[in-house]
Amino acid sequence: MKKKQPTLNWLQNTLSEFLLQVLHLSIFLIVKLIRGRFYFVSEKPLFYCSINQGVFMIRTKVAILGAGFIADIHIESYHRFVPEAEVVAVYTRDAEKAKAFAEKHHITTWYDDIDLLILQSDCEVVDICLPNFLHHEATLKAAAAGKHIIIEKPLAVTLGQADEMIAACKRAGVKLMYAEELCFAPKYERVRHMVKEGAVGEIYMLKQSEKHSGPHSDWFYDINLSGGGVLMDMGCHGIAWFRWMLNNAKATSVYASMATVLHKGRTKGEDNSVIIIEFENGVTGVVENSWAKHGGMDDKSEVHGTGGVIYADLFMGNAAIAYSKNGYGYAMEKADTTAGWSFPIFEEVFNQGYPHELKHFIECVQQDKEAVVTGEDGRAVLEIIYAAYASAGQGKKIQLPFTAKVDKPIDLWLGTDAIEK
Ligand SMILES: NC(=O)c1ccc[n+]([C@@H]2O[C@H](COP(=O)([O-])OP(=O)(O)OC[C@H]3O[C@@H](n4cnc5c(N)ncnc54)[C@H](O)[C@@H]3O)[C@@H](O)[C@H]2O)c1
Repeated sequence: MKKKQPTLNWLQNTLSEFLLQVLHLSIFLIVKLIRGRFYFVSEKPLFYCSINQGVFMIRTKVAILGAGFIADIHIESYHRFVPEAEVVAVYTRDAEKAKAFAEKHHITTWYDDIDLLILQSDCEVVDICLPNFLHHEATLKAAAAGKHIIIEKPLAVTLGQADEMIAACKRAGVKLMYAEELCFAPKYERVRHMVKEGAVGEIYMLKQSEKHSGPHSDWFYDINLSGGGVLMDMGCHGIAWFRWMLNNAKATSVYASMATVLHKGRTKGEDNSVIIIEFENGVTGVVENSWAKHGGMDDKSEVHGTGGVIYADLFMGNAAIAYSKNGYGYAMEKADTTAGWSFPIFEEVFNQGYPHELKHFIECVQQDKEAVVTGEDGRAVLEIIYAAYASAGQGKKIQLPFTAKVDKPIDLWLGTDAIEK
């Protein structure tokens, strides 16, 4: 038998690998062209592509604004789960922190100036992971430069800002994608699909709660920067999830009770709240939020229907259960201690749906699709938050649609006398 030469072997392998790549790319291009989904921006290359695990792939350039808690989560999501995205730049106000973040996450460029980042980074998408009071300004800047936008919750501090952001993105023809990860969390999505299959009959009540012992950064506690307390911070999630579960049914009324129970010395914002929302389809939503709950993060949902019930727990329900005399490194978000009984979570970012959310947004940009959660959804959530603060302020149920001219939603609870200067 004739033995092949090693060089010939190598040549054959390389050639067949090359032809395979060409075949992959051709099929990909043909499919894209047939579906008319090429996203083209003038003066820019038609697409950026790279080879990922042997397959050619279009990569969308993303710049992240912010280098804090949620920026870390977005970066982990992009790097581990969204090969279709390439994070090309990061901004934070402190140049040293921006540089350190970029180096830690292997990002090539960093900025301490948002305008420069937008001008120079050649990104297609700006992913806004800044404190609430900066969402409006950052969105307007990105939209004016023709960048698509991923915006963390809450959409904005005021409804007026939300309207301006939505209008600016429409004018610029860019997408405003509202980052509500609960609409993507695998366990909650399993629940939603079961409901669609008729598992619980007709839904009559939804419950959602998010609780921990208080945020990690000072700005959350300053109502002039955050716009409100725990409702503004974590209530967004439950409200958005109700709308997602109910095919964006309109809320018709809101009743709220809130108080500051643990962080009185640190904030004028509420750190415990219970909101009851009535929807046009007769469903009642109950959302409970707290910054006063010790023992780590809680994120739980309940679906009550005429034919059944479903309970889903994102943290403790996805964790191991451990007892440790001495404690260990890390259990889960905001866990006070790892000594004694604890709930060490695994794949914390994945279980909350961040990778699925960001992958969806990048796909929307690449295929010019409408995101499942948009600026309009963020605005609807903010309107319910306004109504909730007004309800707590007036001690009565508030009918929707609702709007008010205030500097921040929490003024509707505290009254303008209590506004911090
Ligand atoms: N989806 C979620 O589950 C989730 C979780 C946490 C935070 N968030 C949202 O993400 C946004 C950022 O929150 P975070 O937890 O990452 O905050 P953080 O405090 O951890 O990080 C904020 C980042 O913004 C930078 N920054 C720039 N200008 C600033 C200024 N003038 N004041 C303060 N910081 C400034 C900070 O330096 C930091 O890099 C908020 O809107 C928050 O509501 C969402």
